[in-house]
Amino acid sequence: MPESTAVRAFLTDSHVALAARVTEYAAQELVPLPEPPDDAAARAQARELLGRLGQAGWFAPIGDLDLRAACLVREALAAASPLADVVFALQALGTVPILLAGDRALQSRWVPAALAGRAMASFALTEPEAGSDAAAIATTARRDGAGYILSGTKTFISNAGIADFYTVFASTDPAQGNKGISAFVVAADAPGLMFVRPLVLSAPHPLGEIAFQDCRVPASSRLGAEGAGFKLGLATLDRLRATVAAAACGMATRALHEAVAHATRRRQFGRTLGEFQLIQEKLARMATDLTAARLLTYRAAWEKDRGAERVTLEAAMAKAFATEAAQRIVDDAVQILGGRGVLASHPVDRLYRAVRALRIYEGTTEIQHLIVAGQLLKQAKGVR
Ligand code: CAA
Repeated sequence: MPESTAVRAFLTDSHVALAARVTEYAAQELVPLPEPPDDAAARAQARELLGRLGQAGWFAPIGDLDLRAACLVREALAAASPLADVVFALQALGTVPILLAGDRALQSRWVPAALAGRAMASFALTEPEAGSDAAAIATTARRDGAGYILSGTKTFISNAGIADFYTVFASTDPAQGNKGISAFVVAADAPGLMFVRPLVLSAPHPLGEIAFQDCRVPASSRLGAEGAGFKLGLATLDRLRATVAAAACGMATRALHEAVAHATRRRQFGRTLGEFQLIQEKLARMATDLTAARLLTYRAAWEKDRGAERVTLEAAMAKAFATEAAQRIVDDAVQILGGRGVLASHPVDRLYRAVRALRIYEGTTEIQHLIVAGQLLKQAKGVR
């Protein structure tokens, strides 16, 4: 379904072949899946999707740190099943910090299992008082002999309660602010780690709250140096924000496809909807915004893949533009579909509920705009 010629210049031949394979897989295996009717069913379907996506090899781009490939996979999954896309997103968020930190023992314990779909990952950064201001986290990791004791609460955690491991950010030295934050990998069955409650969204998405009550972890579960956790978290988000943009493009592509199909079929006042100029104007804007979003997305991913140390600016632009554009495109598709578009069973209604969170998670649009402006002002002052 994704129209790849617009971004062909950013892709290798193997990327193009991957896009075709994953798009076909998604159409055959994911499009027919029923939408889970409630949170328990969404959690069960997410676990099932984990195994299926892992077995099919779709998590490989995470292990290869091949950002364009990860974007292509998310684009295809999100177009077919937003829940499958969430499963991919969390495997990436939980696993990339382990890959970047470079500890061989932690990598061999968790990465192969995560990529094969045998271990479900999670990324535990957000707290009740630390959302956009991620450095304000209050969860502590206190040194105690050969390990640390974690205490605190994490909320809005995707895969809470169904993950096998959590990549957790906690303060080892609160006086140092963001330079006192460290990252840890914590197994879901660690004593003192508790699933507090699910948080239920309007779109299927396993989410919830977890708490650490004197949860003891060995020092060997720390990712990188003490105090290096915040930079590791931001470096992970820098890479993966382009993939959120890609997921938005996938949802927008599906919405545009549904809208065009309807506009050519549906007749009113003796003509197809597509013959009305007001509909044509909507379709033109949807297609143009989608193409611009895809160009920004694959530009960011290509910059990273070709060795840029940071793509903070490019990723923020891509995420902000693509998620905002996707929201408008999905909304326009609902409008073109009319009554059918608000039926809960219709694909565009599913997309309408699913696309909204993308403008919020992994950094809101407002935070992305602050990042873009901050980078511009730094460049103007000659600071890198
Ligand atoms: N690589 C390496 N270092 C990096 C980096 C990168 N990509 N990005 C930033 N850094 C460094 C900076 O250079 C800086 O280092 P120095 O202090 O040595 O100069 C340090 O990290 C801190 O960076 P900032 O000064 O930019 O940090 P800040 O506190 O001003 O950050 C912020 C501000 C951009 C708003 C940041 O807090 C942020 O991105 N907030 C949004 C939080 C967010 O995205 N949360 C998502 C939660 S996870 C989620 O949503 C997943 C889910 O559920 C599905």
